[in-house]
Amino acid sequence: MSLQTHIVGVGGYLPERILSNQELSKMVDTSDVWIRERTGITQRHIIAQDQQTSDLAVEAAKQALDDAGLTIDDIDALIVATTTPDMVFPSTASVVQYKLGGKDFPAWDIQAVCSGFIYGLAQADGMMRGGMFKRVLMIGAESMSRIVDWKDRNTCVLFGDGSGAVVLESREEEGGMIGSVLHCDGSYRQLLMAEHQHTRHEPGKPIDFSMDAAGVAAIEMKGNEVFRVAVNKLGEVVGEVLDKYGLQKSDVDWLVPHQANIRILNATAKKMKMETGHMVVTVGEHANTSSASVPLALNHLYRQGSIQTGQILLLEAFAAGFAWGANLIRWSKS
Ligand code: ACO
Repeated sequence: MSLQTHIVGVGGYLPERILSNQELSKMVDTSDVWIRERTGITQRHIIAQDQQTSDLAVEAAKQALDDAGLTIDDIDALIVATTTPDMVFPSTASVVQYKLGGKDFPAWDIQAVCSGFIYGLAQADGMMRGGMFKRVLMIGAESMSRIVDWKDRNTCVLFGDGSGAVVLESREEEGGMIGSVLHCDGSYRQLLMAEHQHTRHEPGKPIDFSMDAAGVAAIEMKGNEVFRVAVNKLGEVVGEVLDKYGLQKSDVDWLVPHQANIRILNATAKKMKMETGHMVVTVGEHANTSSASVPLALNHLYRQGSIQTGQILLLEAFAAGFAWGANLIRWSKS
């Protein structure tokens, strides 16, 4: 039989510092009730002053490698999906490779914002089925707090920091990645963006929550319009990926969505006629961690011991760009 891409290790990491809605309501004109009712978020994790995105990535990667019973020497390629790289260049992936003690194998970043992990899994799967790599370390890692305008209540309540990772292995064995669909429509690019390349929040210094972000990278969003398109496109993409691979909505055991807003999650679950108990929800504790959100949600589900071998998982995300997509997986890890 042909090569199939299997998930053999899963990991996740959240920085220690928690920023609650109550604390945020002392910084901007908002309230715990507004944030919970409109988004489902109660808290978010914030990167430490001496950490960078690569440090978050390394923690998740170590856990995933450990879970797989492998070391960095067993890895053939490393991909980091991030929209908050340590630097403009080199890639965060190359920094992560160094920090993990890896050598020589290719390492690169993917930028598809909150859909980065979905894009990365699709890319790795295609390369691995073609025989290019045997084992790939796929990470999503973000320090969104460094590009948030902490004076803008419309956006600062939504985001958090963290990382998630999987180890992928190609084998001539049934199961694993079934397939993916990816989309991007750049005509929507101005509805959600962080226009400038650099952040004034410097690594090694505490995040200055009182900073005026004008003139530096800061998230700007037309929330209502993003919300409307997200609900539509996610509804379409879950139908599309199931049709493409000959599956029904009722075949899906676990929906692992990007965690942006509980109302978006519930709308997608409703379209799939999926009981909410079969949808992973971490947005309350993690907020929107962009490309880390899907692997963190997967890690959460996995660590609960909820996934049975042979079950079908549907991963999906919607992001700035707009870029969106979905992956279907038949769980093959025991
Ligand atoms: N606290 C209190 N009031 C607030 C806050 C806040 N934090 N933020 C906005 N408001 C106010 C607004 O000013 C507005 O007041 P007004 O009526 O007096 O003008 C009112 O609340 C309603 O604002 P809306 O924007 O209509 O609120 P909505 O119900 O749409 O919720 C939200 C806003 C949560 C941003 C929602 O639109 C959303 O989740 N959008 C999608 C986000 C998303 O999915 N992003 C995609 C991925 S992110 C990525 O790719 C990086």
